[in-house]
Amino acid sequence: MKKGQHHQDPPLKQPHSTLPNTTRPITVLALPVTLILITTSCLYYLPLLTLPTSFFTPSSPPPQRSDDTNVVRSTKKKCDIFTGEWVPNPQRPPPYTNNSCWAIHEHQNCMKFGRPDSDYLRWRWKPDGCELPAFNPGQFLALVQGKSLAFIGDSIGRNQMQSLMCLLSRVTYPELISETVLKDQIIASWHYPAFNFTLANFWSPYLLLGSEADPNSTSPTSLYHLHLNHPDPSWTAHAARFDYLIFSAGHWFFRPLMSYHPNNTTATPISVNDAYRIAFRTAFSALNEGRFKGMAFLRTYSPAHFEGGAWNDGGDCVRRRPFRENETRLEGYELEMYMIQLEEFRAAERVGRRRGVRFRLLDVTGPMLLRPDGHPGRYGHPKNVTKYNDCVHWCLPGPVDVWNGFLLHMLKMDNGRGGRTRV
Ligand SMILES: *[C@@H]1O[C@H](CO)[C@@H](O)[C@H](O)[C@H]1NC(C)=O
Ligand SMILES: *[C@@H]1O[C@H](CO)[C@@H](O)[C@H](O)[C@H]1NC(C)=O
Ligand SMILES: *[C@@H]1O[C@H](CO)[C@@H](O)[C@H](O)[C@H]1NC(C)=O
Ligand SMILES: *[C@@H]1O[C@H](CO)[C@@H](O)[C@H](O)[C@H]1NC(C)=O
Ligand SMILES: *[C@@H]1O[C@H](CO)[C@@H](O)[C@H](O)[C@H]1NC(C)=O
Ligand SMILES: *[C@@H]1O[C@H](CO)[C@@H](O)[C@H](O)[C@H]1NC(C)=O
Ligand SMILES: *[C@@H]1O[C@H](CO)[C@@H](O)[C@H](O)[C@H]1NC(C)=O
Repeated sequence: MKKGQHHQDPPLKQPHSTLPNTTRPITVLALPVTLILITTSCLYYLPLLTLPTSFFTPSSPPPQRSDDTNVVRSTKKKCDIFTGEWVPNPQRPPPYTNNSCWAIHEHQNCMKFGRPDSDYLRWRWKPDGCELPAFNPGQFLALVQGKSLAFIGDSIGRNQMQSLMCLLSRVTYPELISETVLKDQIIASWHYPAFNFTLANFWSPYLLLGSEADPNSTSPTSLYHLHLNHPDPSWTAHAARFDYLIFSAGHWFFRPLMSYHPNNTTATPISVNDAYRIAFRTAFSALNEGRFKGMAFLRTYSPAHFEGGAWNDGGDCVRRRPFRENETRLEGYELEMYMIQLEEFRAAERVGRRRGVRFRLLDVTGPMLLRPDGHPGRYGHPKNVTKYNDCVHWCLPGPVDVWNGFLLHMLKMDNGRGGRTRV
């Protein structure tokens, strides 16, 4: 596969209503998903949702260090930072703007493209029973001094990386060190000289080795071949060099997928869910069996918020405020994908304990489900350009910045526990 063919942003996720004729068996599988999409686009007002996160025990222990005044309130009881509500925060200005930070990817630069409202910047995440402090760039840089962090996955991983670079830009900017930067920073790395901190992004939207069925056609609806038991060498070749890896994948799996089995030249259709499960299983096994001995985060599924149609059928995200916890729920294919992630994460974490790989869950699904107002929508491109509305990625600045607040919190917890901070 030529990596360069993936320059474009991922398909604006969501299952496809039109599939190539060559993929009949997949059409059968994809149809129910499409129907789920249509039904989920009407939002249900249902009793309080108990996200599956509540039965997953977060791997972060309560803070141990009393010298850190900024840390979440220390209690005997664990506080799940991923369960809570968005609360109004009219005073606090956004941590950066499109003018103060140059790292914002064009298509997430909602300010530049004239998004008229700014209320989506005036909410803060309030976990139930504790506080998540505002991101402190100095604290983050102190914790990662002499270390390296890589994002592995799709453009929503890049979205988080650019949020991190912008949050850190209040202190310093990195230098580009990678030789292989491509148009959309497919494989790129940066270095923060003052802190000897290395940051990298590996484009690997399926985490597995794969190739276009037709190399001349890369589109959200064209057929893609996945090698199920072969993790993508574009990241496995580098993983062991890093202290922290943040994995993400999701929206590319809605393409019609075929799988290659070992020693079989015949590709066979595979469902979204099967491919998704095998991708994480294969990626995490590769970590557990390899030389990586650092900390691996799974950044969980990032919900999209198309309403009034699918991504390619007029769907848009025009809400201008977050949902309350009782106003929406994770369901349908998004719930399934999230559950698959949790299952594969737990299995990998068990093995990782014996192998010296620490797995952590960066469980953003619940908080982000509540932010239909945080996507670029029609403000992810110039007015005079015709493009689908982007209800998948997140505006920068915007609610996605909280992912790095979670990350900082988790690093602090690990540090406070006296865990190995350097491997
Ligand atoms: C930032 O956004 C404003 C509109 O809010 C726009 O006028 C300005 O050109 C943008 N700057 C950059 C560097 O994108
Ligand atoms: C910078 O960090 C790397 C590990 O990320 C380490 O190998 C190297 O020795 C460090 N350099 C300095 C000058 O401390
Ligand atoms: C792709 O395009 C090239 C040149 O345009 C052509 O030679 C090749 O046959 C095409 N491949 C397929 C699979 O259509
Ligand atoms: C698959 O093929 C490889 C190399 O061709 C071979 O080493 C391996 O034993 C084969 N595996 C099976 C299950 O046949
Ligand atoms: C290869 O895959 C096809 C389609 O699934 C299957 O019918 C066939 O038995 C497989 N062959 C081998 C050697 O595994
Ligand atoms: C959701 O909860 C809030 C506050 O607890 C309440 O005011 C509101 O009426 C509830 N909404 C629904 C749809 O139940
Ligand atoms: C859109 O407008 C900008 C500035 O007004 C211009 O530079 C650009 O070429 C236009 N793009 C298209 C596709 O018309």
